[in-house]
Amino acid sequence: MPPPRQRRILVTSALPYANGHIHLGHLVEYIQTDIFVRFQKLRGHECIYLCADDTHGTAIMIRARAEGRSERELIAEMRQAHLADFAGFQVAFDHYGSTDNPANRRLCGEVWESLRQRGLVVSREVQQLFDATAGTFLADRFVKGTCPRCRTADQYGDTCEQCGATYAPADLIDPVSTLSGSRPEVRSAEHLFVTIEQLHEFLAAWTTSGSLDPRIANYLAGHFLGEPLRDWDVSRPAPYFGFEIPDAPGHYWYVWFDAPIGYLAATAEWCEAHGGSFDSWWRRDGGTPAEIHHFIGKDIVYFHTLFWPAMLEAAGLALPTKVRVHGFLTVNGQKMSKSRGTFLLARTWLDHLDPAALRYYYAAKLSGGIDDIDLNLDEFMTKVNSDLVGKVVNLASRTARWLEATGLAETYPEDAGLFAQAAAESVGIADAYEEGDFARAMRAVMLAADRANAYVDAEQPWKLAKAGPDAAGRLRDVATVALNLFRQIAVHLAPVLPELAEQAGRLVGGPIRSWDEAQTPLAGVPVAAFTPLMKRVEPAQTEAVIAASKQDAVTDKNTSGGSTMEIPATAPADTGEPLAAEPLAATCTIDDFAKIDLRIARIVAAEEVPEAKKLLKLTVSLGGDATRTVFAGIKGFHDPAALVGRLVVVVANLAPRQMKFGLSEGMVVAASGAGAPGVYLLSPDSGALPGMRLH
Ligand code: 2FM
Ligand code: ZN
Repeated sequence: MPPPRQRRILVTSALPYANGHIHLGHLVEYIQTDIFVRFQKLRGHECIYLCADDTHGTAIMIRARAEGRSERELIAEMRQAHLADFAGFQVAFDHYGSTDNPANRRLCGEVWESLRQRGLVVSREVQQLFDATAGTFLADRFVKGTCPRCRTADQYGDTCEQCGATYAPADLIDPVSTLSGSRPEVRSAEHLFVTIEQLHEFLAAWTTSGSLDPRIANYLAGHFLGEPLRDWDVSRPAPYFGFEIPDAPGHYWYVWFDAPIGYLAATAEWCEAHGGSFDSWWRRDGGTPAEIHHFIGKDIVYFHTLFWPAMLEAAGLALPTKVRVHGFLTVNGQKMSKSRGTFLLARTWLDHLDPAALRYYYAAKLSGGIDDIDLNLDEFMTKVNSDLVGKVVNLASRTARWLEATGLAETYPEDAGLFAQAAAESVGIADAYEEGDFARAMRAVMLAADRANAYVDAEQPWKLAKAGPDAAGRLRDVATVALNLFRQIAVHLAPVLPELAEQAGRLVGGPIRSWDEAQTPLAGVPVAAFTPLMKRVEPAQTEAVIAASKQDAVTDKNTSGGSTMEIPATAPADTGEPLAAEPLAATCTIDDFAKIDLRIARIVAAEEVPEAKKLLKLTVSLGGDATRTVFAGIKGFHDPAALVGRLVVVVANLAPRQMKFGLSEGMVVAASGAGAPGVYLLSPDSGALPGMRLH
């Protein structure tokens, strides 16, 4: 049989904006791309996974301004945060660049030159919305208003989520600047446009050439390609954070022009670092053609399937082999929400839960289609505990110990065809990975795990172990079969669970380096001491992640990126009820106030006091070794598990008080009163540290 052809595959995920932290919605994409890439590498193909921070645009400029620092300082900080989050979830890029890098500036210049040479750039005066309060022209995403086509309210300045129309922000009815809340004024400015209508025929052909899911191609045909394509506005006047256009001083490339070129720049940087050839990936005449796979969310289809191929075509570069489009993430059936605590940041998840568990859960949900996927936290817990802990890890944990002394049997024993069956299924599992139908792959692997566990249940090695020396050979055989089936499962799961695959390799047989290792059972090799491979997910962990996310929402205003920030439309109308019910106390002096030493503290432990109706016993840290025990009257309003980790305010110099249940060494400050039931704990702004005093 000839060896399988080695493919050259360049894979990208959409570049995350540098103005927001990575959240679980983003991770649907990065985890699925990483799984695809790991799968290709395990199959022996040359595959590179490229990404970068998307750094330019108005959002970064405004935020940097608000924080009193430079854009470059801000993007450097966000880069570190993004990289840490990705590493935490085992998303392993071969290169992670930045759209602000010199390579990107150079490549933007080259693509621009090609567009100019092909006569695709024109200049026109446009009416643009200007926020006089913020002193800037408004990017499309910073304007909201009513869609001029279908009249749906609360739509962004570029596209309508309801009817899919695209328009200029100035076309919106009743526009409002989301930066200042003011009504923007219309000002005239010169802009540069790419006349992509000239590439209409090319795009109509390319979009139906097999690179896109037919549903996406139909959507494009129905919404855009049925009429002349609008010119694409690719420049913004100063002030703008981005690259100034060399032949149009005072004008900058729009962020969506330089972002996809970031894919090219990341390739150039990777080639520079690894001695590769850029042309071999992106030039059409670069030898063996490489495959280019872009993973994107369904909200950015327009840019990746019309503008991007048009730019590549104009520049004579290779076109995407596949644009793989996925849906959005919902949590517990609803859009992620800060107030519900379901706007889950990557780093908050990492503080409380196993990243591998999320990788598996996403894999089990992703079928390669554009449907949204739901993270249901109860289902998540049940699925991970039942599949990974109950079936996969359990297979090794209940058999490995019998082989620690002897190693695997010298020849692979009779196993009623179990290993061969899963080996034969390997082809189908590989097809599922290739198609992005990871859910199908996971189902097949779990069926194999079920069969393996049924085998162990039937053979009852624990009974053989008690039966003495006569049964030792049989025991060794049974455990050898089970451990081989476990390792075979680990090979099939390696793209999803790289850490489990490594642990399996350490347990028996050495590192898993190839998909083909699922074809041949091992025999006569040592078995290491078993160490726990994965822990059960406990309800307290998912509760804690929700509670911590609520806290994030209170303390970090920049968690969601500019485009999805929740900005209240109007200030709520507060009633006078609480104040009327409890009038202000008599005046005190500043000296009176100074006697009360209020400090920030972190709750490090919380438990119910079973005999007390209202009390929780809290251990709070004032920083360093200083901790206090405090009995707080908040039982019933706060789940103890969810409190751990959060910052509160305590009266730190209150005289200790002996209570029936123990000594209380302070008081946690909370609000309560007429108007709403409940006891509301106070939280400081982001950045406050335990031990800081309130003045
Ligand atoms: O939608 C986004 O989050 C963009 N930052 C994606 C850019 S992808 C590419 F074109 F660079
Ligand atoms: Zn509309």
